[in-house]
Amino acid sequence: MKFILQRNPQISSVRHEFHSITPQVTCSSNSSSEEFMRKMLNRRWTLMNPDTKVHQIKVSSMQTQQHFGPFGKVTFSNNSNPLLGENVRKWHNDESSFYIVRDDLLHPLVNGNKARKLDALLPLVEDHSGTDMVTCGGCQSAHAAAVAVSCAERGLKAHLLLRGEQPQILTGYNLISVLYGNVTYVPRSIYANREEMLSSHANSIGGCVVRLNDLLNASTNHNSVKSNFLDTDDGQSLNSRKTVIVNEGAGDAIALPGLIRLVQYLSQDHIFGKDQPLKIIVDAGTGTTAVGLGIGALCLGLPWEVTAVMLADTIEGYKKKEESLISELCLSFNLPMMHNGLVNWVERQHPRKFGNVLKGEIEACQQIAQETGVLVDPIYTLAGWELASQLSQQERKGGAKVVMIHTGGTLGMFGLAQRYKSYF
Ligand SMILES: Cc1ncc(COP(=O)(O)O)c(C=O)c1O
Repeated sequence: MKFILQRNPQISSVRHEFHSITPQVTCSSNSSSEEFMRKMLNRRWTLMNPDTKVHQIKVSSMQTQQHFGPFGKVTFSNNSNPLLGENVRKWHNDESSFYIVRDDLLHPLVNGNKARKLDALLPLVEDHSGTDMVTCGGCQSAHAAAVAVSCAERGLKAHLLLRGEQPQILTGYNLISVLYGNVTYVPRSIYANREEMLSSHANSIGGCVVRLNDLLNASTNHNSVKSNFLDTDDGQSLNSRKTVIVNEGAGDAIALPGLIRLVQYLSQDHIFGKDQPLKIIVDAGTGTTAVGLGIGALCLGLPWEVTAVMLADTIEGYKKKEESLISELCLSFNLPMMHNGLVNWVERQHPRKFGNVLKGEIEACQQIAQETGVLVDPIYTLAGWELASQLSQQERKGGAKVVMIHTGGTLGMFGLAQRYKSYF
């Protein structure tokens, strides 16, 4: 079975001037992609259903000279009940808009891409009788907090290795991690070697230790759950702890099916359908979310282009991540698949060192919150909003519609308010 990647002519025709668009790809073999989707989506999930809300953000230009906000003369308004389905195809010459997928509303603490990445991951751990999970992240990691809350909801134990020192005041995701999980603060020099740090902490818990990819391989290749764990510890662990290592940001192949499931949900006729070209905009940390969305669009044969704003790595790093996630997935599911530019990786409009906040960004988040009721944070989702807003103003009749995925992370604001007091 082989996936052949081809240019999608509909998407190529809507390229815009300031980003180099990687050709979107489609899967040429229907039976292969159906088989792939069947294998991928026929599983137990964390989310009862993949449903999410879709809002429409109107982008208007003020005529008056008086108003110059963080977005210049641009103002926003939110239609929280837009007409979807056939109506997505309609064009209104006089106004720009983009759709926003409100995954930030999925759960009070485990939302956005965290909920999607854990959607397939947690059942896999449960199916393999895992008792403990070890993962890592920055002090305000939304991923670490999401793992802690999700584990607690299932009676598992979460061990969180957070980079740096304990802050004087606990707040935001840091506070949630401490309340729900077992936090260890790790000096940056040790954190720099994440793999070793995660393994040695997992080993120190006792019982047996396994990596997520091994679990995925075991389940897709029908190895028994028990043997997989027992293999790792001389058969002594029937009643002892079984610790699963989850990469930083859940940058693991098993995080991808939840995003593929989201794409399938969004491509239903009553939402965006399968024929309307879309530009999907997402912010990228590890890049896993963007890759999952790209694979979903590819396998469903959708004329959707996934554009990811690079926030934490170089383009080489993201391309490498894309390649390795796809190979891991294909290896696990026994699927040969060529990969080449599923995601269009782009620079942020105002690049900055990851984690830093630039002047005016808090005001931009404030404007968006006050005009639309949508909370974005300056580290991740503001970057997606900026690009979605910019592209929506360049829409051409009959071209691609812009859709931003809200990746959640709004509690990050609490940590930033502590760190950048003078900006608030
Ligand atoms: C709000 C938010 N957006 C985006 C990301 C990055 O997602 P990914 O690592 O899948 O690129 C994160 C990190 O998990 C996040 O917390």
